[in-house]
Amino acid sequence: MLLDHTLGQQLQKPDIRYNHMAKLIIVSNRLPVKLQESEGRLDFKPSEGGLATGLGSIYKKKNNLWIGWPGMVVEDESQQQQIIDNLNGQNMHPVFLSDKEIKEFYEGFSNETLWPTFHYFSQYAIYEQQLWETYVEVNQKYCDELVKVAEPDDTIWVHDYQLLLLPSMLREKLPGSTIGFFQHIPFPSYEVFRLLPWRKELLEGMLGSDLIGFHTYDDMRHFLSSVNRLVGHGSTHGWINTGNRSLLVDSFPMGIDYEKYEQTAESDEVKKREKIYRNNLHSKKIILSIDRLDYSKGIPQRLLAFELFLERYPEFHEKVTLVMLVVPSRDAVEKYKELKEEVDELVGRINGNYSHMNWNPIQYFYRSYPLETLSAFYRMADVALVTPMRDGMNLVCKEYVASKLDQKGVLILSEMAGASKELSEALLINPNDINQMVETLHTALTMPEDVQQQHMRHMQESLRRYNIHHWVSMFMDRLSYVKIKQLSMATTYLDEATYQELSNSYEEASSRLFFLEYDGALVDYHNRPLMAAPDEDLLELLQVLSSNSKNRVVVISSREKDNMQRWLGHLNIDLIAEHGVWIKQRGTGWQTMTSLIDDWKSDIRLILDLYVDRTPGSFIEEKEYSLVWHYRRVETGLGELRARELVSHLNFLATNSNLQVLDGQMAVEIKAQEVSKGKATSYWLNMYPHDFVLAIGDDWGDEDIFKAMPREAYTVKIGNTHSVAKYHLDSCEEARKLLSRLIGLKQKKLPKELL
Ligand code: UDP
Ligand code: G6P
Repeated sequence: MLLDHTLGQQLQKPDIRYNHMAKLIIVSNRLPVKLQESEGRLDFKPSEGGLATGLGSIYKKKNNLWIGWPGMVVEDESQQQQIIDNLNGQNMHPVFLSDKEIKEFYEGFSNETLWPTFHYFSQYAIYEQQLWETYVEVNQKYCDELVKVAEPDDTIWVHDYQLLLLPSMLREKLPGSTIGFFQHIPFPSYEVFRLLPWRKELLEGMLGSDLIGFHTYDDMRHFLSSVNRLVGHGSTHGWINTGNRSLLVDSFPMGIDYEKYEQTAESDEVKKREKIYRNNLHSKKIILSIDRLDYSKGIPQRLLAFELFLERYPEFHEKVTLVMLVVPSRDAVEKYKELKEEVDELVGRINGNYSHMNWNPIQYFYRSYPLETLSAFYRMADVALVTPMRDGMNLVCKEYVASKLDQKGVLILSEMAGASKELSEALLINPNDINQMVETLHTALTMPEDVQQQHMRHMQESLRRYNIHHWVSMFMDRLSYVKIKQLSMATTYLDEATYQELSNSYEEASSRLFFLEYDGALVDYHNRPLMAAPDEDLLELLQVLSSNSKNRVVVISSREKDNMQRWLGHLNIDLIAEHGVWIKQRGTGWQTMTSLIDDWKSDIRLILDLYVDRTPGSFIEEKEYSLVWHYRRVETGLGELRARELVSHLNFLATNSNLQVLDGQMAVEIKAQEVSKGKATSYWLNMYPHDFVLAIGDDWGDEDIFKAMPREAYTVKIGNTHSVAKYHLDSCEEARKLLSRLIGLKQKKLPKELL
């Protein structure tokens, strides 16, 4: 829908194309390689984790660059220089972190505050001001490093929760730059996110981006709800308007380098390794589990399920082995240390209880492995058991599917992993439901091969198509689109030269249409809406403007028709009331545009009544086909807070109905979707010939009017905010002055210096 609208608008503005030739700079806390000391010399080794493995195929292209921490504290300057030189030759640039920064920024705020909160383990989160301060400093350090290497045309792509403040820091230093942000971990629901003491600063940090991506629609929904309730910016179809900029939030499920995993699994080396491992295991069936050591991965729960499976199904003793790879991770963090002990104990207990001379139910490896070994494990496994308590995406399960060349094998996947939204042919489980896990294991181990192949084939088709290259190009295309759209949303001040051009076309025209929004464009907002009556000057202006037989003047409002009739009904003008529910063409009576049903009103009214009870000074306005909750007279801060709550409440209720929520100027309105000012104005454009059109509006809701205007119309927004209008003026007074000047009217109260 949005695309359709905006395409029309792009045509109306200069077609400035984004330069695709510039370089892409990827920034993440960790580089895709990490330094390791062995036998007195430093070596680079691939980093683990989905971010590094996922984007590993991308940064090497052209002159792209990856900026991040090389995984080790290096203090010696000459050693640092060697590392810089070495990495620069491989399209990478290091950011060195000190011991204190690793402790407080990486282990502390990133992994003891943000990680647990974002994975719904708030009980593990610590809130310490010192950690926060170092987090801010290190984000600034990354920013400074970027500013040194970024050219104006470059695209900067920031990744993950360690760098949430970086987009806004970059926006301040490089205001015109193109900044994308992608979060690889979940975004929690507002109720969890709000627990963070620095929640608002974190959101504001992210909002410096042009495009914010998440793996799933749910993450995106949670983020938009937090932005709405904590920062006060609403959104339409994922677009957030911060006042002077618009940015987009969207979901982009990350894929894997499918061909790489397929080809690796095909290689002779991997086949050889698979054979060796199989022979060593003496087991008919192999269950595979691979994760970093992390409480979000549900490793103890998985072990308990396996233990119960052995107890419940003794016929599988000696016939099944769980191969469990646990990759060491964040081992200086307390919760990770505790988890390591717990896992060691559980493995010891299960093996102790069930092992035989020739069989260990669990083969446990606490280390990381290269791609070829992983691939051999994937090939060999009859079942992959991927059961995180929460996971942004989870790439291991996708790699398993891609490595199954004979399509035999079963994936058991947690519903709490982002990947479950795509891989619906997997056996989906709730990791908290141990009985379900046990029974699903049994189903998987006894599943007929043709059924396995059928499931696997579907999953492979999808993963082959939605691979990592597809993911990158979807994100980059969307980012380019946002930049083009932003240009089309930037308005220019209606200066003297434009005025002269406008005035000339006015003079030359024989049939002119004026669409003038009442509140905010002709008359200033008033604390009491009924006090914003037209003054003498305005009545005179409208009277003279409409007395010219070439002019047709349409005044538009969301107000009730009786109100409009009382104030303006005596003039020879046309009126649109209640967003277009009612229209009045000059010389005729009021007529309704649509036959609307308003039976929803009684239910919504009850909710608005509740908000009135809780918010002194607020009140409800009931119109024929809409309800408005006004908070103009409410204590500053409280009104905004309640409005955020009300908007998300109403949006939730409006999801599957034909209702639309408008987050307006100190008012929240809910109305039937088919009513819009844009539709009403189109009626005039279709009915009356015109060779000059001027539309003036002020509110977010008036964008519908601008969108409906023909290409050559003069569209003017009051206030310098992002809009599809071509021009802006600063106030109602300026709008009135523009109209007065056009018809040569001298008005008493208008300041002389305007225009
Ligand atoms: N991985 C690895 N070496 C290992 C085990 C795993 O490189 O010994 C990789 C694995 O192939 C996958 C990534 O680490 O690409 C883990 O990503 P995932 O999204 O599953 O989880 P994360 O660690 O990002 O939470
Ligand atoms: C996850 C995160 C990454 C992180 C990786 C490994 O994939 O999303 O940002 O790099 O885990 O964690 P580490 O703490 O070793 O960087």
